[in-house]
Amino acid sequence: MTATRVLVTGACGEIGQALIQTLAARGGYHITTADLAPLPESIRSMSAEHARGDLIYKIKTFYDYDFDEIYHLAASLSSKAEASGEDAHRINVEGTMQLLMLAAYRSEKYQKSVKFIFPSSIAAYGMQSVSVKYTAGRVKENEYNDPHTMYGCNKLYCEKLGAYYSNYFGQKHSDENPPRFLDFRAIRFPGLISAFTLPSGGTSDYGPEMLHAAAQGKPYACFVREDAQIPFMAMPDAIRSLLMLMDAPRETLTRQTYNVAAFALTAGEFRERALKAFPNAQITFEPSRRRQGIIDSWPQDVDDALARSDWNWKPEYDADAFFDGYFLPEIRMRYNA
Ligand code: SER
Repeated sequence: MTATRVLVTGACGEIGQALIQTLAARGGYHITTADLAPLPESIRSMSAEHARGDLIYKIKTFYDYDFDEIYHLAASLSSKAEASGEDAHRINVEGTMQLLMLAAYRSEKYQKSVKFIFPSSIAAYGMQSVSVKYTAGRVKENEYNDPHTMYGCNKLYCEKLGAYYSNYFGQKHSDENPPRFLDFRAIRFPGLISAFTLPSGGTSDYGPEMLHAAAQGKPYACFVREDAQIPFMAMPDAIRSLLMLMDAPRETLTRQTYNVAAFALTAGEFRERALKAFPNAQITFEPSRRRQGIIDSWPQDVDDALARSDWNWKPEYDADAFFDGYFLPEIRMRYNA
């Protein structure tokens, strides 16, 4: 059997590293990677080729490559994007557009499907006020699509661009049987937490930062209020959802962008759980107006019923399973805590 040819951009990020390890363990993939940084030692041997540099300039390298699947993970996260909007737009939007054009061109030229997975975000939502956030409940994909951040605008727009390139580009597909040669699929992720890596430049970062700090016995000042709540997910569930959506037969999908959910906790609840596991942890709250504003605009939780019914999504880790079955055992080993 020939190997599935995969491109992973943003390979050095948290999702990239975990995804590449999972693909390598599954076997049957020829993995090409791209990132601004050199690959970390932990995944270096798993990549057949690494294109290092800005994707916008590197994209030409890939015009002769025949990819079956693309995971486009490269992005500037929400806090960083807010501080540097033009850069974020270039990375998040122009980079995505270049890669979508490449995939559309390859799939049309060879009349074969190229699957394109895009990690979108809860940042695609924008709750008008804190009271709307806490009365809206679990939001559905088509509700509150009114992002308050550069990153959220970028993600929502790229979902639309992906749909455009896969459904309408060139207006060549008949309505009855759209071949969708570029097969674009997106997941709106909650905040992700890994026991092995830390995020950088995001706004949900207070969750993982607080837990890693507690495990290392380092003091941590949380940049949002105790009552701030957004949904979170364990990294292994995030990777599983990417692979499940990638592998789902096209005809089972009723849409191109899906919510996935696992557990939603307040920052105060994170602190309580951290203190239970590490009683000497020093966690205080020093909310930043800017970052609190971003979290206030994100939903307290999302409704993932469509992912559950269309491609059988179900998280393995709810809050208890996340702490007891994944994070705490792994982190204790890692930091000897
Ligand atoms: N975790 C991301 C961020 O905080 C949201 O998708 O920017």
